Amino acid sequence: MMIVRFDDQIVRYFVIATAIWGFVGMLVGALIALQLPFWQANLGEYLSFGRLRPLHTNAVIFAFAGNAIFGAIYYSTQRLTKARMFSDLMSRFHFWGWQFIIVSAAITLPLGLTTGKEYAELEWPIDVLIAVVWVVFAVNFFLTLKIRREKHMYVALWFYIATIVTVAVLHIGNSLALPVGLFKSYPLFAGVQDAFVQWWYGHNAVAFFLTTPFLGLMYYFLPKAAERPVFSYRLSIVHFWSIVFLYIWAGPHHLAYTAVPEWAVTLGMVFSIMLWMPSWGGMINGLFTLRGAWHKLRDSVVLKMYVIGITFYGMSTFEGPLLSVKTVNALSHYTDWTVGHAHAGALGWNGFMIFGMIYWLLPRLWNTKLWSERMANAHFWVGTIGMLLYVMALYSAGVTQGLMWRAFDDAGHLVYPDFMETVIQIVPMYWVRLVGGLLYLTGMIMLGINMIMTIRTAKEKPSDAAISVAA
Ligand code: HEM
Ligand code: HEM
Repeated sequence: MMIVRFDDQIVRYFVIATAIWGFVGMLVGALIALQLPFWQANLGEYLSFGRLRPLHTNAVIFAFAGNAIFGAIYYSTQRLTKARMFSDLMSRFHFWGWQFIIVSAAITLPLGLTTGKEYAELEWPIDVLIAVVWVVFAVNFFLTLKIRREKHMYVALWFYIATIVTVAVLHIGNSLALPVGLFKSYPLFAGVQDAFVQWWYGHNAVAFFLTTPFLGLMYYFLPKAAERPVFSYRLSIVHFWSIVFLYIWAGPHHLAYTAVPEWAVTLGMVFSIMLWMPSWGGMINGLFTLRGAWHKLRDSVVLKMYVIGITFYGMSTFEGPLLSVKTVNALSHYTDWTVGHAHAGALGWNGFMIFGMIYWLLPRLWNTKLWSERMANAHFWVGTIGMLLYVMALYSAGVTQGLMWRAFDDAGHLVYPDFMETVIQIVPMYWVRLVGGLLYLTGMIMLGINMIMTIRTAKEKPSDAAISVAA
């Protein structure tokens, strides 16, 4: 027999980074939420809405969700493969390289250095660095799979593989550009082709950054927390293959009623509708894993977080296909409905899955007890109410905008030709969104306090977990 000691230190790094960037990203979110109904909060050129909005999206997606999925992958891959990560050096390079990229984004975006492509705003030197760090991460991950001591590859690992391969292809494909200076480049594609590539990337950022790694996380951490095997392993495999096959075609649903050909939008719509089925299969697989364990929800904040997370996976993947239908999109596009949908997924699904994972990991990574279960429960309620206020306010704002923009009188004239009229109508909803966002941010701060106190009360220096395996 021999002892295999896992590298849990890298997981601790990623978990701490998740909490820090989560706080920063949501604080910026709250500021831009204030700037919309209260323009005076635009604090000069560098801190105006246009500069800070991409900072918010990049921070919450790539720094908050990004660090969280890396933590999940490093923790679960080592346990599922019964092997330490192939190279500690590569793991550290991945961690510090990623933080450097985030800091570079936080400096360049407020300065207005941007490609202008949503979720891919960073200029070419940072893009090159992202590609390098990602490839090192990929090599480290695949070499760990190669040296694994467990022959069977559990479904979570397949979701991680899909994430790592596809994100590399998407990022490199969409970032192909001709540099004309250190901070300026022009995309290789032009016009409609550029739009196509951008939304092939944009939609699949949702699919392979905010969905597949989170499904891997769900399939690993949920059965652990519920102490139940996954409801149907067969369903999880069907879920995996159908999700990865269908998602990649759905991008053009972001371009309905634009210059892209009609058939392409129809194709995107059809694949989006087909996505509903595997998405709900995944949700059902998650929720049914709790069969016979629902009573545990009373005492487990981790399971409570997962139930909200998985339910909102179901809600946003029901709503997404609906929004892709051209007639619905005619109402929703350019309105706050889209932003509401984005946050039902981001706050409900990604946020709560991350919170559940962190509360599960904290005592295990620092060999101690969670400092305050009560505070974690308070986080659950504050976060849930905040998220619901946020999305309800924006659904209401979005439908109001959509209906007002297309209201005609009997003579065929617009009823609200003055755009400002439609803006003023939704200002109250923007205030409600701000309150919801601030509540959600309060929950994030509670998590931060709980994390700091748990780490401080841990008596000994945390030790890494080890298993014995046949030599
Ligand atoms: C305190 C919590 C949050 C607040 C107050 C907040 C606020 C905002 C605001 C005001 C916008 C701009 C909307 C617009 O242009 O009209 C926005 C956009 C966005 N936020 Fe957040 N946000 C929060 C948390 C998050 C989190 C945790 C994520 C992701 C994990 C996220 C992802 C996004 C995305 C993807 C967009 C772009 C949406 C679109 O274009 O439809 N946000 N957020
Ligand atoms: C079956 C799954 C899904 C489908 C078919 C889908 C479909 C759509 C559609 C049709 C839009 C509106 C495009 C527009 O009118 O501009 C949209 C926007 C968006 N969705 Fe989803 N969605 C799905 C799941 C999700 C999930 C789970 C998340 C988050 C984790 C998410 C995040 C977003 C974001 C951030 C946007 C805004 C993109 C932008 O900046 O314009 N979606 N989605």
